[in-house]
Amino acid sequence: MELPDPVLAVRGISAQYGSIPALEKVNLTLRPGEAIGVLGANGAGKTTLLNVLSGFLKPSSGSIEFRGRRIDREPPHRIVRCGLLHVSQERDLFGTLSVIENLRLGAVAKGHAHLAHNLEQVFTYFPRLKERRSQQSSTMSGGEQQMLAIGRALMAEPQIMMFDEPSAGLSPLFTQEIGAMMLQLKREAAISIILVEQNMGLAAKVVDRYYMLRDGHVATEGGATDLLADPEELARRYYL
Ligand SMILES: Nc1ncnc2c1ncn2[C@@H]1O[C@H](COP(=O)(O)OP(=O)(O)OP(=O)(O)O)[C@@H](O)[C@H]1O
Ligand SMILES: [Mg+2]
Repeated sequence: MELPDPVLAVRGISAQYGSIPALEKVNLTLRPGEAIGVLGANGAGKTTLLNVLSGFLKPSSGSIEFRGRRIDREPPHRIVRCGLLHVSQERDLFGTLSVIENLRLGAVAKGHAHLAHNLEQVFTYFPRLKERRSQQSSTMSGGEQQMLAIGRALMAEPQIMMFDEPSAGLSPLFTQEIGAMMLQLKREAAISIILVEQNMGLAAKVVDRYYMLRDGHVATEGGATDLLADPEELARRYYL
């Protein structure tokens, strides 16, 4: 069976911070409705890769195609308009604004046409956000803020969502909820997912394939079954 065209094709991407190399010739493909994991130790270059994909850091060489169109020279807001959304490690909420105000801001790029519908959709995924719609976002718990950051990205009607360690600091219950939500996005909304995660259990549950980064390059790649088969061996080999 022929594979469908990728939604995202990353070819030979290198990037540096000043003179310090951070990514070296990274290749990656993401197909429609697929979830891939980007794994690796602290400092391996995972966040850097997401920042390059979302246009915050320009690559020094290589190309990024989104549905066949080059996006590697586009500014971040144009990339968001294309439908590639990044839920950052810091969550980047507007702390003084309420839950509902943060969600509305997520839809700015889309105008008002789908605002009400998209809000209802987000509230279906996260009923807790509906209950707390008027709460100031900085007073929400860490897990609730993560839900809000994801909800805000959903308001922009993403085709690809990139999550940077969404389970960081979350209880097992919240982690499970976020995992279930990602599976739902993939299966029901046909959103393709790039998941950066240290929690192997969560990664194994959500992703179809993974790429293991080490010192800014792809050290190995494989299917999700590897993550369940011998996570300790993977950790020994690539995290130490
Ligand atoms: N703005 C920056 N200026 C200089 N160096 C940076 C900058 N951001 C990241 N780096 C360096 O680039 C390397 C990769 O960092 P990155 O944040 O991509 O790692 P990571 O895989 O996301 O790690 P973690 O799991 O700790 O989040 C690190 O050595 C880091 O110190
Ligand atoms: Mg990081």
